[in-house]
Amino acid sequence: MADARPFHWEFEPPKIPRERYLVNGGVALEGTIQVSGAKNAALKMLAAATLTGERCRFSNVPEIEDVRTMAETLSDIGVVVDHPERNVYEVSAGDVDWLFVPLEAAAKMRASFMLLGPLLARFGEVVISNPGGDRIGRRPVDLHVDAMRALGATIDYRYGYYYAKAPGRLRASEVRFPIVSVMGTENAMLAATLADGHTVIRPAAQEPEVDDLISFLQKMGADVERTYPDTIEIEGKRRLRGAEHKVMPDRIEAGTFAIAAGVTGGNVVLEGADCATMDALVQVLGKAGVSVSCQPDRMEVDARSAGPGKLKPVDIETGPYPELATDIQPPTTVLLTQAAGDSRVHEEIFEDRLEWTGELAKMGAKIELKGPQLAIVHGPAKLRAADVEISDLRAGASLILAALAADGTSSIGGAHHVRRGYENIERKFLDLGARIERVQEGELGTSE
Ligand code: UD1
Repeated sequence: MADARPFHWEFEPPKIPRERYLVNGGVALEGTIQVSGAKNAALKMLAAATLTGERCRFSNVPEIEDVRTMAETLSDIGVVVDHPERNVYEVSAGDVDWLFVPLEAAAKMRASFMLLGPLLARFGEVVISNPGGDRIGRRPVDLHVDAMRALGATIDYRYGYYYAKAPGRLRASEVRFPIVSVMGTENAMLAATLADGHTVIRPAAQEPEVDDLISFLQKMGADVERTYPDTIEIEGKRRLRGAEHKVMPDRIEAGTFAIAAGVTGGNVVLEGADCATMDALVQVLGKAGVSVSCQPDRMEVDARSAGPGKLKPVDIETGPYPELATDIQPPTTVLLTQAAGDSRVHEEIFEDRLEWTGELAKMGAKIELKGPQLAIVHGPAKLRAADVEISDLRAGASLILAALAADGTSSIGGAHHVRRGYENIERKFLDLGARIERVQEGELGTSE
């Protein structure tokens, strides 16, 4: 294996363009947009392509920064990644000459850790940066590491890197998770496709993106199946083959635009949206008084008779699928600012996912934090334009939603967070009649 020293002392935060969104709110959004491919499915499939030396081809891949980061990380280790046309990626991992996933990749994106399972299973070793390293705050990956150990790997942790080894093959096993983890499930599943014997993963995450990954793995020749809602079973194979797959639609992006219609009192058609994967949000929208009509591959959201300030309050609680997705909690919180009454927002999955509401409060929202994971949204609030700063991807989209519902022109800094996970977000909002533009400010470093 190539020399894999932890080059932490050489690490320089990547330079990223400093951009802001300028949003002039107060317009009810109307029109039709096409939902893009799911970020949280595409990233795992690009990683899964390293399970074979043959070419894999993906369509409907969203054109977002996280996909570019994964593609670059793969190229850096010797995988051939082609991008022949928009939304299409081809990955050939015939030669992988550098079994090392550096801090540069981990610092940009936690999903870089998805390379642990496939590289370890196929090549028997990998050195991979901890995405929860000192420089980027507490983000645990213990469940992933324990799953690999259950599959027979030895893993040491030194200087911010995991040194994982599995000479010969990984050994199939019962992988039991103490809590449900999406990427933990996926990493274990990818590793088990090439392990020796029969693996059972329980409780397995039930997110639709996990099932989309299963369907891609089956096309690769993997023997993997969800046998119960919370159980995935895998019979390991010696080799997998190349395959083609169309990435499923992004239910979080679709949900964000559905809420945009709700919060501005508009009417938006989401082409390509799959209502079946969005039931928890559809229920919340219905209770709030937003009308949602579902057809195959299409969703229409109509809030013209409800509108800002006239929605009904709803108590929400996030949870693993099929419960309300934590990623849609921040946009939903913005929606609830326009309800006539108090709503409780209980964030069950992440400890720090209500902090961004401090920025929302600058726009006039009345949010009372009852603890790190419980907020009371006192509605209705008349939102007004403000100068705010984005702290992460979903908070960013949510501040845009708030600005769309606010009077005046808001200036929202940190647009790069949003570009990580939403394809062409400002183009799509413009198509719905929004007044939004993205402007450059020079350069700065990041350690996200
Ligand atoms: C994925 C999604 C993210 C979503 C999250 C929850 C991707 C790329 N990201 O993240 O958008 O918000 O699911 O739906 O698919 N945990 C541990 N130890 C671990 C791993 C997780 O304690 O090793 C904890 C987390 O801190 C969290 C909980 O488990 O409290 C669930 O997180 P998890 O489902 O693993 O999230 P991700 O897979 O990282």
